[in-house]
Amino acid sequence: MKRVAISTLGCKTNQFESAAMIEQLQAAGYLVVPFTEPSDIYIVNSCTVTARTDAETRRLIRRARRLNPASRIIATGCYAQVAPGELEKMPELDSVLGNQEKQNISELLETSEYSVSDIAAINQAEPLKLTSFAEHTRAFLQIQNGCNSFCAYCIVPYARGRSRSVRPDDIMMGVRDLAANGFKEIVLTGIHLGGYGLDLHLPTTLTDLVRQINAESLVPRLRIGSVEPNEVSQELLDLMAGSENICPHLHLPLQSGSDSVLHRMGRPYSAAFFRDLVGRATAAMPHIFIGADIIVGFPGETEEEFDETVQLIEELPLSDLHVFPYSSRPGTKAAGMPGHIADRVVTERAARVRNIAAMKKKQFLDRFTEVTLNVLVHGYNDKTNECKGLSRNYISVCFPGEKAFLKEELSVLVTGSNGTIALGRSPVMADK
Ligand code: 5AD
Ligand code: SF4
Repeated sequence: MKRVAISTLGCKTNQFESAAMIEQLQAAGYLVVPFTEPSDIYIVNSCTVTARTDAETRRLIRRARRLNPASRIIATGCYAQVAPGELEKMPELDSVLGNQEKQNISELLETSEYSVSDIAAINQAEPLKLTSFAEHTRAFLQIQNGCNSFCAYCIVPYARGRSRSVRPDDIMMGVRDLAANGFKEIVLTGIHLGGYGLDLHLPTTLTDLVRQINAESLVPRLRIGSVEPNEVSQELLDLMAGSENICPHLHLPLQSGSDSVLHRMGRPYSAAFFRDLVGRATAAMPHIFIGADIIVGFPGETEEEFDETVQLIEELPLSDLHVFPYSSRPGTKAAGMPGHIADRVVTERAARVRNIAAMKKKQFLDRFTEVTLNVLVHGYNDKTNECKGLSRNYISVCFPGEKAFLKEELSVLVTGSNGTIALGRSPVMADK
């Protein structure tokens, strides 16, 4: 049996696609082994969202060559899709395959040296196949791929093509399947979730889809992945607030709190809009977890503009921030803009926002001391007898427990936090 190992970088969509490749390769008779072991074939499923993920991709390729000098090494994924020439120059690499080629990985694996088809040509005509994968107790369901927005900084539309959606009927089937298999939480994900349904023959929206899934009460917890701020409808907020099953959790890619920077990025909302959205979300769901992505050091970002971001995030009840130092992506609009910011300044700004993020996270967690949360247990440490799980509002909770708690949703009283996770009392003790 030939051995094959896969390493995956980047987002959930890439992780789905690795899971799908593994399934395909196993069906074709390959033995899938860990990427840390000698293998006959190595696949690096790359990401190119920043220069860092490019570098990480190259590092993994070199590592694979060291693990087995005689192996065959293949790069696929977004970096391979966008800059195949750059990867081809690497002497360690044998083959470059695009994102679309993942669908025929078992055929191309040992035959093709180069196959990167034009991802922009893949359009609405071809509905996306539904894929899912499980992580612990949660199942991730990919309902959409691609993006039409072309924000100035972002390479993703070039790597993943146009927005295309899975039909609602297929999604409902997927949800029923996962629920029947015992998953207590399903996370809806995509590259541009807010664009869901607009490309379908019978157009629909994310809100309508969520309403339909919610109406059937198939799964105890339904979570919605990242949605563009301007695409979170009031109807969606109302639906979330009125539902037993939809988790009070939003992840909003804010990117900047400065109107002028947002404008240059091509983001169609203002800081005032975002402030209002967060106000409406927290009014409807007082316990909601709101995460946000922030890019610091976008070309031309002045001290004043950066301060506008700092002020906005300090003022708002955000629960967590993902901070991204701006990374110039060749081929994007921003790459050609004037006023690229010195690395030192970008690093300083990132550190400042990360400090605020740590404070926000702690403040959010502290609000739940002496509060009981519904925790879905995904981990158990038999040395310390500790359980770890996730609340509906996305708080990691650690508490004394037993192995039988795994995969159960339990009421846990929070007693404090260590700044990043909440600590809880054993549910048995709490019940007494
Ligand atoms: N530089 C830095 N961060 C980026 N992101 C996307 N493109 C870039 C870039 N060129 C960040 C955005 C997005 C997250 C997934 O990655 O914040 O929301
Ligand atoms: Fe990385 Fe974006 Fe591609 Fe996902 S879609 S793998 S985050 S570049």
